[in-house]
Amino acid sequence: MASTPVRSSAPGKVILFGEHAVVYGQPAIAVPVTQVKATATVDAAPAGSGLTIVASDIGERIVFARAPKKDPLAAAAQATLSYLSAREPDATLTIKSTIPISSGLGSGAAVSTALTCALAKFLGHPLEPAEVSKLVYKIEKIHHGTPSGIDNTVIAYEKPIYFTRGEPVERLNVGEPFTLLIADTGKPSPTKKIVDRVRRAREREAAHYDALFDQMGDIAAEARGAIESGDIETLGPLMDENHELLIELGVSSSLLDELVETARLTGALGAKLSGAGQGGNIIALVEDDFAEEVAEALKEAEAAQVIQTKVR
Ligand code: MEV
Repeated sequence: MASTPVRSSAPGKVILFGEHAVVYGQPAIAVPVTQVKATATVDAAPAGSGLTIVASDIGERIVFARAPKKDPLAAAAQATLSYLSAREPDATLTIKSTIPISSGLGSGAAVSTALTCALAKFLGHPLEPAEVSKLVYKIEKIHHGTPSGIDNTVIAYEKPIYFTRGEPVERLNVGEPFTLLIADTGKPSPTKKIVDRVRRAREREAAHYDALFDQMGDIAAEARGAIESGDIETLGPLMDENHELLIELGVSSSLLDELVETARLTGALGAKLSGAGQGGNIIALVEDDFAEEVAEALKEAEAAQVIQTKVR
């Protein structure tokens, strides 16, 4: 067990192509966003004090031994301890995060990842990304019900991925780095609720929705080729097409559409909502020379925050 503090961080993420369709077995593409992160620090505590989890950003202090089973922070700690067959340590685990909550940037998965990695390191058993991803997936089920697994995977590996549910993770080689703007609506994107609504709609009209998901999967497959060969020009129109399909799926909103339109009109090569939708983010593909202008326009169009990131 470590006697000095141990720290681990995990990035945010965005989905470039294939959200929702990925729940139904279609491929999707996601990338880490290192401009925002969750950090977990574990400090040794006096013998007999047990484990306390402090989430200072949300003013939570959890005594592990008395925490409800479904508490996601306590559940992440429990999953890690069970996996390592370790006893509850005497320690304080402090979580901090700069990732906006419920915004489509993977805040829940990043917090669980940072917590799991830091606790495992503290116990002297650092984990591999595949192990972390598997543990965090269990916690994602508490947050989201039936997650595809894309969030925990991209965050644990911290690399662009081409993800198909139930298949081994494929890392994506980016032929030519490209710039994305991520504009947050500031409105929540309640993933579980939206995914449930899509599921119910699909139960009523399977053929229609499966056709939409198939088209989204085809777009993700084509985008993979374009990313790997550095054909950035092709990516923009594919993002636009994917956004139209997400509108048809019923997960966009007037603010998301407005931000997408603003990005396109001010010079983005393409734009779409990213994540579960309704609120959350849009992403826009931009040439570096236009990034500032598009970011300014997005802020004027009421984006709560605009993050610029390079995908490489
Ligand atoms: C959430 O980040 C992405 C969704 O496709 C849900 C999932 O993949 O679990 C909407």
